Amino acid sequence: MQNISFYHSVFLAHLEQQVPSKQPTSLYDPVHYILQLGGKRLRPILTLMTADAFSNDYKKALNAALSIEIFHNFSLVHDDIMDGAPLRRGEATVHEKWDVNTAILSGDAMLIMAYQLFEGYEVTTFQALAKLFSKTALKVCEGQQYDMDFETRDDVSVEEYLKMIEYKTAVLVGAAMKMGAIVAQASKNDQEHIYEFGRLLGIAFQLQDDYLDAFGNPETFGKQVGGDIIENKKTYLYIKAIEFSDDDDKLQLEHLFSINPTDVKDKIDTVKQIFISSGSADATRQEIENYTQKAFDVLDELSIPESKKKVLRDFGHDLMDRRV
Ligand code: IPE
Ligand code: IPE
Ligand code: MG
Ligand code: MG
Ligand code: MG
Repeated sequence: MQNISFYHSVFLAHLEQQVPSKQPTSLYDPVHYILQLGGKRLRPILTLMTADAFSNDYKKALNAALSIEIFHNFSLVHDDIMDGAPLRRGEATVHEKWDVNTAILSGDAMLIMAYQLFEGYEVTTFQALAKLFSKTALKVCEGQQYDMDFETRDDVSVEEYLKMIEYKTAVLVGAAMKMGAIVAQASKNDQEHIYEFGRLLGIAFQLQDDYLDAFGNPETFGKQVGGDIIENKKTYLYIKAIEFSDDDDKLQLEHLFSINPTDVKDKIDTVKQIFISSGSADATRQEIENYTQKAFDVLDELSIPESKKKVLRDFGHDLMDRRV
C-alpha cells in the first residue's frame, strides 16, 4: 500500500482526465466548479486504499472512486440549497454563485454521471456496485429528510440523531470502502467488515463535522461557522446540552432553536456558551472518540496483514484530528 497523498494525487489526475468540459456550459460549469473546489477527497481515497489493501491494484477502483466523489459533490450542491449555506470550501456555494435552478439541474447531472462511471466494469462487478450505490443513495436521501424534519422538532432523541447521521453521511463512507473491496474481489466477510469500519468512522466523522460547525475556526473551516445553529439543527451538541442543562438554560436553548432571528451573532454566541458550560461540547468530543475506537475494533476482523490495517488506522486518526 501507498501513503495517503499518493492516493490523493492519482485520484486528482483521474478526475482531471475523466470530467471534460462540455456544452451547455451553464449545465457543466457548476459541475467543474464544485469538483475543482477541492475538499479532502476522503471517500475516493478510502475506495482506492481499500482496493489496494485487498488486491494490490488500486487502478481498477479509480472509476468507482470517482463515482463516489461525484455523488458526494452532488449531495453537497443540493444540501447547500436545503441548508441555505453561503460558503463551501471557502468559496461561494453553487446556488449562490449561479442560482437555485442551476444548482438543482447541475446536481441532477452529477448524480447521473456517478452512475455512468460503473459502465466500464464487467457484469458481476457492475451489478454489485450499482446495487450498493442505489441502496446507499436512497439512504442518503432518507437521512437528509430526517435532518430537515428535525429542524422543526423539539423532541429529537440521541438515537434518532445517530440514525439520521448514519444515513446522511456514514453509509456513503462505508459504501466507498465496500466498493473498493468489491472491485478487488475481496471475500463477502471482508466486504461486510470494511463496510462496518467505514460506517462507524463515518458516524465519528459527522459528529466531528457537527462539532466543527460550532467550534471550528472561521478562517480555515471553509463553511459558515454556526450554520447549524442558525438552521436549528438538532445535533449531538444540542441534544446533550438540553439533557445536561438546568431549567433556565434549557428553556433558553429551546427558545433560541424555535426562532430564526435576523441578528444571528447573539444566538450563535449564547448557544455555544451553553454547549460548553453544560458539558455537551466535552461529551461530543468523547463520543467522537468512542465511535473512532469502535471502528478500529472492527479492523481486527479483517483478513489483511497488520501493516495494511495500520494504514487504515492512521487514516482514521488523521481524520479525527482534522480542522476542516
Ligand atoms: C461534507 O463532507 C459533508 C459531510 C458529510 C460532513 P466533507 O467534509 O468530506 O467535505 P469535503 O469534500 O472535504 O469538502
Ligand atoms: C451533509 O451534512 C450530508 C450530506 C450532504 C448528504 P451537513 O449539512 O452537515 O454537511 P455540511 O456541513 O453542509 O458540509
Ligand atoms: Mg449542510
Ligand atoms: Mg445538511
Ligand atoms: Mg455540517
